[in-house]
Amino acid sequence: MKNVIVGQSGGPSSVINSSLAGVYCRAKELGADKVYGMRNGIQGFLDERLVDLGEILKSEAEVEMLKKTPAAFLGSCRFKLPDAEKKPEVFEKIFALLNKYEIKVFIYIGGNDSMDTIRKLADYGLATGSEIRFVGAPKTIDNDLAETDHTPGFGSAAKFIATMAKEAIRDEVVYSTNRTIYVMEIMGRNAGWLTAAAALARGEDNPGPDLIYLPEVPFDMNAFLEKVGALLKKKNNIMIAVSEGIHDDKGTFICEYAAADKAVDAFGHKQMGGTATYLCSVCEEKFGCKTRAIELSTLQRCAAHLASQTDVDEAFASGAKAVEAALSGRTALMATLNRAGEDPYRCEIDLADVHYISNVERLVPREWISEDGDDVTEDFVRYALPLIQGESWPVMENGLPKHLVLK
Ligand code: F6P
Repeated sequence: MKNVIVGQSGGPSSVINSSLAGVYCRAKELGADKVYGMRNGIQGFLDERLVDLGEILKSEAEVEMLKKTPAAFLGSCRFKLPDAEKKPEVFEKIFALLNKYEIKVFIYIGGNDSMDTIRKLADYGLATGSEIRFVGAPKTIDNDLAETDHTPGFGSAAKFIATMAKEAIRDEVVYSTNRTIYVMEIMGRNAGWLTAAAALARGEDNPGPDLIYLPEVPFDMNAFLEKVGALLKKKNNIMIAVSEGIHDDKGTFICEYAAADKAVDAFGHKQMGGTATYLCSVCEEKFGCKTRAIELSTLQRCAAHLASQTDVDEAFASGAKAVEAALSGRTALMATLNRAGEDPYRCEIDLADVHYISNVERLVPREWISEDGDDVTEDFVRYALPLIQGESWPVMENGLPKHLVLK
């Protein structure tokens, strides 16, 4: 018996299904009998909601369409596994179900919180002498996982953000005689990698954003308004990129000044959103000019029509590596993406101990942020540019992208 199960968890991305395809294809190549998918991650698995992926991915065409379908094909969850000492019954149930379906390998595609699930299950398995192997495949648009140069999902989201910034800046200059402040709000919670990607819009044909604020540096409202005031003396239209997670030196998120009662998920993460609208209202009051809040929101993590081919390929390879490691008997690991060459860019897929990854957040290094904390340096641009390369065209039908959907 050599059955595999795979799940997807946390916020999705436009290439998370390419990782799923990588797990499926490599598992089959290596002789796995059945490859099950858990619907809505570990939460669905606890309710015994499984699908046999072999019955869905019957041909190469379906696998290709899966790779180009955004968001989590199997459905996702934000479910925190309790500690095994506190609630052993949850682990007993999971292992009983794994044994019932004769599963030898458990792959979880996700971010830091999902790697926490892998760590707990692998440790419990080792402590109880189980032969089931648990390995993670990285995924997060936030790019905040430790032990890896970057994460699948980031390159495509970065490409989308930089494209949107470029296009919005073109739109902005149309009314160069009217004063307008644009604030573009970008995801990433405590890590500013995605917001920094707005800088990639800069080039010969585009000045890029005027100001970029990451959550790594406490946000100073007075300094911000001073900068905007100075810019307005020089030009009429200003584009500002801000992370949804910018906060002041007391740790209060700027979006909390607009609405203090932010909901919290199972991992204690506050629901973000509203930063751009709030900053626009402050600017409107201070400068008496028109403002526009641009919330990229969900769009930045599901824009598969603008995915980076590099990202699609690396997502596939990392899924393949994870299942390969687990099928060879290794456990408590996550597949990692290592930059093996700069010019030309080359990426090698490796493995790292999940204990160094779960619940750790890898932030943008301070030296990649300008001294004033309102821009990023060329080092960031050099780092991110290779990750957005290559076009992954969707499968089109009736003028629209066609997706593979689980019924
Ligand atoms: O973890 C990825 C992420 O996209 C974060 O950048 C963002 O804060 C969060 O998920 C939003 O999650 P959701 O909209 O699923 O609650």
